[in-house]
Amino acid sequence: MKLVFATSEAHPLIKTGGLADVSGGLTSALVELGHQVKLVLPAYQAVLDKVNKVSVLSQFELDGVGKRLKVRLLSAKVAELKANVILVDIPELFNRPGNPYMAADAKDWWDNGERFGVFSKAVVEIAMDRVGLNWKADVVHANDWQTGLIPALLTLEKSKPRSLFTIHNMAYAGYFPKSLFEGLKLPWKWWTIEGMEFYDQMSMLKAGIQMADWVTTVSPSYAKEICYPEYAYGFEGVLNQRQKQGRLVGIINGIDDQEWNPATDRYISYNYSAEKGRIASKKRNKELLLTLLGDSDPQAHLTIPLIGFVGRLVEQKGIDLILQALPDILETESVQFVFVGSGSEYYEKQLMRLAGRYPGRVFVHIGYSETLAHQVEAGADMFLMPSRFEPCGLNQMYSLAYGTPPIVHHTGGLIDTVVNTTKQTLADKTATGFMFYDPNPHALRATILQALNLYKKPRSWQQIQKTGMQRAFSWKKSAQNYIKLYAKEI
Ligand code: ADP
Ligand code: GLC
Repeated sequence: MKLVFATSEAHPLIKTGGLADVSGGLTSALVELGHQVKLVLPAYQAVLDKVNKVSVLSQFELDGVGKRLKVRLLSAKVAELKANVILVDIPELFNRPGNPYMAADAKDWWDNGERFGVFSKAVVEIAMDRVGLNWKADVVHANDWQTGLIPALLTLEKSKPRSLFTIHNMAYAGYFPKSLFEGLKLPWKWWTIEGMEFYDQMSMLKAGIQMADWVTTVSPSYAKEICYPEYAYGFEGVLNQRQKQGRLVGIINGIDDQEWNPATDRYISYNYSAEKGRIASKKRNKELLLTLLGDSDPQAHLTIPLIGFVGRLVEQKGIDLILQALPDILETESVQFVFVGSGSEYYEKQLMRLAGRYPGRVFVHIGYSETLAHQVEAGADMFLMPSRFEPCGLNQMYSLAYGTPPIVHHTGGLIDTVVNTTKQTLADKTATGFMFYDPNPHALRATILQALNLYKKPRSWQQIQKTGMQRAFSWKKSAQNYIKLYAKEI
C-alpha cells in the first residue's frame, strides 16, 4: 500500500510529546510490514538544523492567506526513520526558531491556522500526485488538529485516497476565527454544524473527525471515553455519530523497542533485561542517576525508594494532584522523587518550591532532556503518572519495559496498559502497576503508600517488575491493526 503519513512532529527530528514517538515508531513498523510510506512534516528551522543532507524533490506555489507562498518539498535521510521523509519547506511559515507551535513567549504563533492549513494543502498535493513525484497515495493518515483539514480537502477530490484521522488528544481542537476559514478559501458548505464550524469558529480537529473515512484514537478506552461530555470538550455529538457509523476505532500505541529497551538503551550506562542480572544493573543506574541529580550520598540512599516523573507539566498530567499529595507523603515516608518536565510556568514554579522545601528528597529538572527521560525510566523504582485523562500515554509503557512499576489513574490508555496490583492479580502474577480510581489527592496518596508498602516485599515487587517487563507493546501489532483499517472497504 502507498501511504502518506502527515504529522506535525516526528522523533528524532522534532518532538514536544508522544505524537513524535508515534510518528517515528508507527511509520517504521509500517515500512517493515512492506508498505511504501511517505512521512510528511513541516520543515521547521529546528528540523533543518538537524538533517545534514536534503535534496529538493519538487517546487510549487500554494495560496496562503492573502498571498502566494513558495513551497519546496525536501527529501531527508534520517537513520532512525524507515519511511521516506518529506519536509514541507515554506520558509515564511516554518523557518522560525524554537517550538513547532509556540513562540519564545510561550504564546501560540499568531498564524498557526495559516501554517497548518497550508501544510495540509501541501500534503493533499503530494497525495494526489500533483507535485511531479509520479506517486499517488492509496491512503492518507492524518494526526491531530494540525492535519485535520487534510481529510476534508480530500473529499473535494475525484478518485481520492482513503483517509484516516487519528486523535491523539481531544484537548487541542485547533480553533480559529471565521476570517481564517475565508482566508484559506474553504468551501462555504463546510461552515455548518455538520462541517467544521463550532460555535462560530472553525475547528480543524472537527474537520478531521467529521470528514475522514476512519477516525481512530490511541487506545480503546479513550475511544469510549470521548463519546462522553467529560472527555469530549463539546464534540461528543460528532464523536457519537462516528461511533454509531462504526467509524471510530481505538488502536493502542506501541513502543519503539529500538529506542526504549533497557537491554540496548544508549542513554543509560548499565543495560539490563528481565533475564540477565536485572535487579543489580537497575540499581547501578539508580546510583548514577542519584549522583547526577546531586544526591549527597547515592550509595547510602539506594535502599530508599525513588519515584520518577517525566512529562509535560500541564493539568492533563495530574500535576496538581501530585503537588497536593506529596507534602504529606514526604513528611511521613522515607522516599525520594525526581521530576523531569516543562510546561506551565505555574507548575514549574510550584515544583521548584517543593524541591526547595525538601532538599535532597525532591529533585526537579525543568526542561526537555531525552537523556534524563531514559535515565529516570531506568533509575527510578516507580513511575508516577496520575493523569486526569490520557489518550494513550507512552511513559507508563516505557516504565513497564524498564521494570519501573507505574502508579496511574484509571483513565484512557492507562487502563489498557497497566494491570492494577490487587490480592488477585498478585496471586495470578498479572499485576504490573498501581491504579487509583478517583482523581483526587487522597486517592493518589493512598496508592503511592500502597506501592511503597509493597516495595518492602522484594519477592512480590520483583514479580510485578518482571511481569511488566515481559509485556510486549510492539508497534508491529498496532501497525497491523492500522493496515486492516487502511484496507477496509468503505
Ligand atoms: P504526551 O504526548 O501527552 O506528552 P506521552 O506519554 O504519550 O504523553 O508521551 C510523552 C513523550 O514525551 C515521552 O516520550 C516522554 O519521555 C517525552 N517527554 C515529555 N516531557 C519530557 C521532558 N521534559 N524531557 C524529555 N522527554 C519528555
Ligand atoms: C497525546 C496524548 C498521549 C498519547 C500521545 C501519542 O499527546 O496526550 O496520551 O500517548 O498523544 O499518541
